[in-house]
Order: sequence, then structure tokens, then C-alpha cells
Amino acid sequence: MTTPFLKWAGGKRALLPALTPLLPREYGDYYEPFVGGGAVFFALEPQRAYLSDVNEELINCYAMVRDRLDDVLSALTSHRNTEQHFLHVRAQHAADLDDVARAARFVFLNRTCFNGLYRVNRRGEFNTPYAGYRNPTLVPDELLRAASAALKTVTLSAGVYVDACASAGAGDLVYFDPPYVPMGGFADFRRYHRDQFREDDHEELARLFKDLDARGCHVRLSNSHTPWVLELYADWTIHVVTTRRVINSNGAGRGPVREVIVTNE
Ligand SMILES: C[S@@+](CC[C@H](N)C(=O)[O-])C[C@H]1O[C@@H](n2cnc3c(N)ncnc32)[C@H](O)[C@@H]1O
Repeated sequence: MTTPFLKWAGGKRALLPALTPLLPREYGDYYEPFVGGGAVFFALEPQRAYLSDVNEELINCYAMVRDRLDDVLSALTSHRNTEQHFLHVRAQHAADLDDVARAARFVFLNRTCFNGLYRVNRRGEFNTPYAGYRNPTLVPDELLRAASAALKTVTLSAGVYVDACASAGAGDLVYFDPPYVPMGGFADFRRYHRDQFREDDHEELARLFKDLDARGCHVRLSNSHTPWVLELYADWTIHVVTTRRVINSNGAGRGPVREVIVTNE
């Protein structure tokens, strides 16, 4: 069991005790198409895994930690926990940096921005504010070494979840952890978000769940406990679980939260 090195909104560490008993004892390849901070992957450390996410900076970071760990560690030593340095790094364009510097920038911003939140504006520019934490570990070498080892045999790809599951077949395990359906429903002001995941995406995901079942995969999915989610997955087994975790970025959602884990068996 490896500890994730990123803070991630919707991180699934608190869900692990409920999720683990619902996983098959044996399975072929492991697919996690909304990998985020990878709490479930790093807990399971499956032999062969396909990890993906639509966030290209995140996937590049995993690839560099896997393939060029020493270079990433050395690039991290150039960062400082000051607001001035943070604003300078935040304003950089990923496209102007090499892949190692991009990965180090990603880790640095994750450790020094507010709650590790990855948020971009309409132009795709990172805009989470500086947190001013007193002593963040800017070079988490042990965590990165462990993550690098866990990622060694993993296939990584940046892209949408539908493409990520193309090669999943009989006996493979697919775990979906999409951006949750908001408890209060979808509000229109969210529309401009680049990483939006809306009603039609959830409907398409529910169809893919069914398709993967027909292909003989073990399929697991987590989401919020709302009437619409219960309706979308009414054909499957729905486990209602209670976790204690932060469900939204401003911390207002702290406290016991009901979530669902859907299984196809
Ligand atoms: C709830 S988070 C996953 C959290 C993760 N399980 C963890 O423990 O940290 C959802 C993830 O889905 C990604 N995402 C959003 N839309 C996507 C899409 N269409 N295809 C693939 N990934 C997407 C986001 O970048 C985010 O990392």
C-alpha cells in the first residue's frame, strides 16, 4: 500500500474501507479512467494497470515520477514556499516548460496552493490561490520514490474516460470515480468550466458501465447519493455508504456524507 503524493479534490482514501470488500478477489488488468490523486490505485497496487485522466498535467506528472524520478526531485529543489515565487510559477505556461519542469511545477503548486485544488480559468490557466501553509514538504522524496515504484508497470494516458476503457475485456476490473453529481443538482453557472462533467456525461458513463458488464468486466463506480444517481444505476447493485470527508472545496461539506458504490455483481 503506497500513500498518494498529491492532495486531490474528491480523493477516495476515506472510501477505501467500504470499497475494498466490494472488489473481486481476483481480476485481470486494472482500469481507473478518472485516476486523480490515485488513492484506490495506490492502495491496491495491481500488477497491470491502465490509469488515465483528462488532466494532462496530472498524467505528465505521473509519467515523469515513474520514468525520471531523480530529475523531478532535483527540479523540485529549485522551488520556494513564498507567495512571490508561487505567483511566478502559477503564471508559467506548461507548454513553455520541459516535461520534468512541468511535473515539478505540478507537485509544487499542489503542495502550496489552497487545498491542493486544481482549478483553471476559461483560458485553461491555473488560478487557485496561494495557501501560505507554514511548512509544506516541497521535496516529498520518500512519497515520490514509493509512487515511482508503484507506477513502474502502469500504462498512462491523458484523455477522456471512454477512450481509456477501449481495451478492457473479460475478467478485467474497471473502477470509475467521476466528478460527482452535485447534491443540489446541476447549476447553470458551472457551464463554462473546462473540466465540467454534466448530465449527458453521466448518462453516457452509465451506458459504458452496461457495455463493460456485457464485455465480462468487473465494474465498480462511486458517486453521490442522489435520486438521479439511484435511477441511473437502478439495474445494478447499489451499496449506500457513509464516509466522513470533504466534498467541496470551501470545506462547507465536512461531516458524514452518504455516497454510493455501484457494482455489476
Ligand atoms: C473525483 S476525481 C477522482 C479522484 C480520485 N479517485 C482520487 O482518489 O484522487 C475525478 C477526476 O476525473 C477527471 N475527469 C473529469 N472529466 C473527465 C473525463 N471526461 N474523462 C476523464 N477524466 C475526467 C478529473 O480531472 C478528476 O481528476
